[in-house]
Amino acid sequence: MDLQHGAGLLHRLTSYTPDREWDVPIDDPRVRHDIVPNDPDTVPPPVKEYPGDLPRIPLPRDLPRPGVNATVVLAGEAAAARPLDAAELGRVLFLGAGVVRTATRNGRRFLFRAAGSAGGRFASELYASTRAVAGVPDGVHWYDPVEHALVRVGPPARGEATTIVVTGVPWRTGWRYAERGWRHLYWDAGTLLSQLSAAAASAGLRPRLRTLFPDRPVRELVGADGVHEHPLALLALGDGEPAVTASAPATQGSLPPVELPLCTQAQVAGESDELGEPWPEAPVLRDVPESPELDAVVLRRGSQRRMDRTATLPRRLLEWPMAAALRGIDVPHWVVVHGVDDVTPGVYRWPDLDRPLRAGVLRDEVLRVCLDQSLAADAAYVVIAATSGAELDDRSYRDAQLSAGLVEGRLHLAAYALGATASGMTFLDSEVPALLGQPDDLVTLLFTCVGVGEYASRAGGGPGAPVEVRPVMPRLGMQ
Ligand SMILES: Cc1cc2nc3c(=O)[nH]c(=O)nc-3n(C[C@H](O)[C@H](O)[C@H](O)COP(=O)(O)O)c2cc1C
Repeated sequence: MDLQHGAGLLHRLTSYTPDREWDVPIDDPRVRHDIVPNDPDTVPPPVKEYPGDLPRIPLPRDLPRPGVNATVVLAGEAAAARPLDAAELGRVLFLGAGVVRTATRNGRRFLFRAAGSAGGRFASELYASTRAVAGVPDGVHWYDPVEHALVRVGPPARGEATTIVVTGVPWRTGWRYAERGWRHLYWDAGTLLSQLSAAAASAGLRPRLRTLFPDRPVRELVGADGVHEHPLALLALGDGEPAVTASAPATQGSLPPVELPLCTQAQVAGESDELGEPWPEAPVLRDVPESPELDAVVLRRGSQRRMDRTATLPRRLLEWPMAAALRGIDVPHWVVVHGVDDVTPGVYRWPDLDRPLRAGVLRDEVLRVCLDQSLAADAAYVVIAATSGAELDDRSYRDAQLSAGLVEGRLHLAAYALGATASGMTFLDSEVPALLGQPDDLVTLLFTCVGVGEYASRAGGGPGAPVEVRPVMPRLGMQ
């Protein structure tokens, strides 16, 4: 990866090191120095805004229930096909991006969505380009996650398969994390896609993920301007040609006009003209433990803020979630084991759990690498996605970040399905090669902590009925 341009430059200039606080920008004119992180005066709205006169289709709030266990979906077993209508499409969108909880902090109301998001910034938007969905006219629709409704922003696209387009809004996450937020767009797209795909698969809708697509036409399709909003991934429902060839540009809607030029350049550097193949289907896991239904697991999922470091997890709760989360993923992963029965504490290169690369209790070291965030030390194990910089270019860097987000999202679902808890976790980039015993050109992607919770979150509510929660604060550091 070229560290002087595009995604590589952004990665380098947004790498955390111990000698600089996470919210202090690096001394380089290419990053913005005038952003005050978390400034209440500049906080962006939580969702995109559109003129009130666009056609709206309320989606049924009573969600259909395919009744498929979470572990069955995560194992990759095919579910019986259900007809695609407004309620089924609405269920898929809701189980990815719907508002499930609300909280009030410092007088501000926060909307928590079904899938996790780095720092709770929820910088993704969803669009559905629909084809023959009963109860929804063909067209391009923005998903309103607050009202559980579709807003028609563009005419029908050419193509066969109804396709969900995931976009990211850099300023929504940049408001807290500045240019590093561009990485978070792909992490969040990954967690979101893990749940969108699981929801679609459980209804037999055969989700097909594409991350290679022609950027400019897809921007036109959904009205993303390529500065304040970028298309990140396509999820077609079924094997047909995805409905992404716009017949006319969509209405753009409004977003705050704040640009992070380094993010724009990183995004542009990876643009393509090509529509790629969907990600290949991975082999099905044969061994499937019992679990609650997927929909219940999604609503129960949250990011655990406090884990019990005195409790351990059985080896099975490391092996199964990892096997399920890594189905079809080629990004390398390591596991730092703190407290797992029948596994010696230390660092492992997945899937080899028999030979630690380093043996020893590394809670303090991982705590330091994770900016003193206690979850990293209190977890039973910490999963680390990282890859060699030599393997990446401007486009595959995006895929690597998104893969890491997908793994985080699936680990979350598997952990909650089997009675454990989880949280995503950020890190000091400069410290990870030594932790894992890897060369310095390692590009670290994402950490996920899995462990035993000190409390249980209230389950999220259904469409239009989020539950109000009192936020639990982690023990130390940023979040
Ligand atoms: C990719 C990713 C990275 C995260 N990083 C951290 C982190 O460094 N520290 C932390 O306490 N929580 C972290 N989280 C958890 C988020 O803060 C949490 O998902 C968000 O506040 C929404 O809450 P929920 O997951 O309970 O819905 C991360 C989550 C994701 C998805």
